[in-house]
Amino acid sequence: MTPAPGPVHVTGEVLATKVVGAYTHLTVVAPDVAERFRPGTFVALSVGETTGATRLARRALWVHQVRPVGGYGPALQLVVEPVGPGTRWLAALTPGSRVEVTGPLGRPFALPKEPVSCLLVGEGYAAAPLFPLAERLRERGCAVNLLVAADDEAHLLSALEARRSARAVTVVTRDGSVGMKGRVADVVVGVLERSGAEVVYAGGRVATLHAVAAAAEDAGAWSQTAVEQPLACATGLCHGCPVPVVGEDGVARTVRACADGPVFRGDRVRWAELEDRSA
Ligand SMILES: Cc1cc2nc3c(=O)[nH]c(=O)nc-3n(C[C@H](O)[C@H](O)[C@H](O)COP(=O)(O)OP(=O)(O)OC[C@H]3O[C@@H](n4cnc5c(N)ncnc54)[C@H](O)[C@@H]3O)c2cc1C
Ligand code: FES
Repeated sequence: MTPAPGPVHVTGEVLATKVVGAYTHLTVVAPDVAERFRPGTFVALSVGETTGATRLARRALWVHQVRPVGGYGPALQLVVEPVGPGTRWLAALTPGSRVEVTGPLGRPFALPKEPVSCLLVGEGYAAAPLFPLAERLRERGCAVNLLVAADDEAHLLSALEARRSARAVTVVTRDGSVGMKGRVADVVVGVLERSGAEVVYAGGRVATLHAVAAAAEDAGAWSQTAVEQPLACATGLCHGCPVPVVGEDGVARTVRACADGPVFRGDRVRWAELEDRSA
């Protein structure tokens, strides 16, 4: 039976953990979350002991994959970059740990109705949602081209897997440790031209998304960007995650990253304002 739409809040269990480069990959079984997942939606994990100890706000994570694990059903694969107290706590979880999961949250990537050529651009851990997206696009007969980027090799997500997921893969690192040396902004116009993509999907820093959205617009392609903003509640209640956009009616307004996004049409976001805010 198809589950009802909308997020659920459940107690999940960590089945496995693996450190790969700068990231800790967590396999988490969270009843009903995986079944509801669509690429581009995210989960929020409660940080702190499940026994009532002091907690930090929930931390948002993209879903990298949903894979069946024998005896458990579909499990979430999450990628954690330990940067602060919340992600360090999550990265230190061990198999068997209980963790509260809320999700899936937000609006997913929109899928094209026709089998068109697509370019997927992912930077660092924010490439995570593009892998399940690539699967959905391939099921629809779309040609998938990938551009994966990171500061260095350790922050490059699943480069080998990228080669299995796409027709063509371009790798770019800021320090040149693997692939081309540079930033997404330096190569995206050329990659877009070579791929002939009509639709572009992207996840990464705000400046990167801005460059991708601008390149897509110049090439006459349609773009969808997964925008990350620090989230207080992550569920649409607090209005603490403003994203400046231009609505369908051409009127400038501010919407919520977590509930109205995180995926936005690239040509609708007022990028310069968002960049100023994120700087
Ligand atoms: C929709 C969404 C999906 C995300 N997916 C992932 C993921 O798959 N893997 C992962 O490791 N992280 C992901 N993040 C980022 C992660 O949720 C934040 O970095 C989180 O706040 C870290 O918590 P912390 O307690 O470790 O560090 P904090 O103390 O909260 O933050 C550490 C530093 O990061 C900055 N920061 C916090 N949130 C963000 C953000 N969203 N973007 C940029 N800087 C931020 C803070 O200002 C601070 O300087 C995602 C965020 C969003 C909004
Ligand atoms: S973080 Fe509360 S509304 Fe988005």
